[in-house]
Amino acid sequence: MYELLQKFHSGWAYVALILLVVAVVNAFVGMFSKKEFTAKDRKIAIMGLIGTHTQLLIGLILYFVSPLGFASIGQMSDKALRLTSLEHPLINIIAITLITIGWTKHKKLITSESKFKTFSIFYGLGLILILSRIPWSMWF
Ligand code: HEM
Repeated sequence: MYELLQKFHSGWAYVALILLVVAVVNAFVGMFSKKEFTAKDRKIAIMGLIGTHTQLLIGLILYFVSPLGFASIGQMSDKALRLTSLEHPLINIIAITLITIGWTKHKKLITSESKFKTFSIFYGLGLILILSRIPWSMWF
């Protein structure tokens, strides 16, 4: 169970990050080129949302079965364990909350410019936060 979840979380991270990067780039391109927000842009944004939500779900389960997750929460002096048991989960939950807020907010907006801007800000911040707390040395 642990190994399967760990491999899935490790592999899905590529999918989630690629989908999110595409959504952020698309939002910035749309914002700067002042183009119209179409159904295609909506699809790109929802793929970014689904990709990260799936990773959140796997991450939450993994957190309670991994020896590097909740089980290590007391060992804050160990940098690597502090990252996997506290910083990585907490910052990622905040990042995915921001992405979700961006998605929810865009639905209430009318103009294309404001929709692209909202995605640029909320998805962009989410991406920066996620990248800041990935356990890179474990991944590669
Ligand atoms: C988009 C969000 C996330 C991304 C891109 C991501 C990515 C990763 C990556 C690349 C690793 C290293 C995997 C490896 O060893 O090959 C990892 C490990 C881990 N992640 Fe995430 N993660 C995300 C969200 C979360 C969340 C929300 C939680 C918990 C609530 C979580 C819990 C963990 C744990 C416990 C590990 C260590 C697993 C182990 O090796 O035992 N992750 N994550």
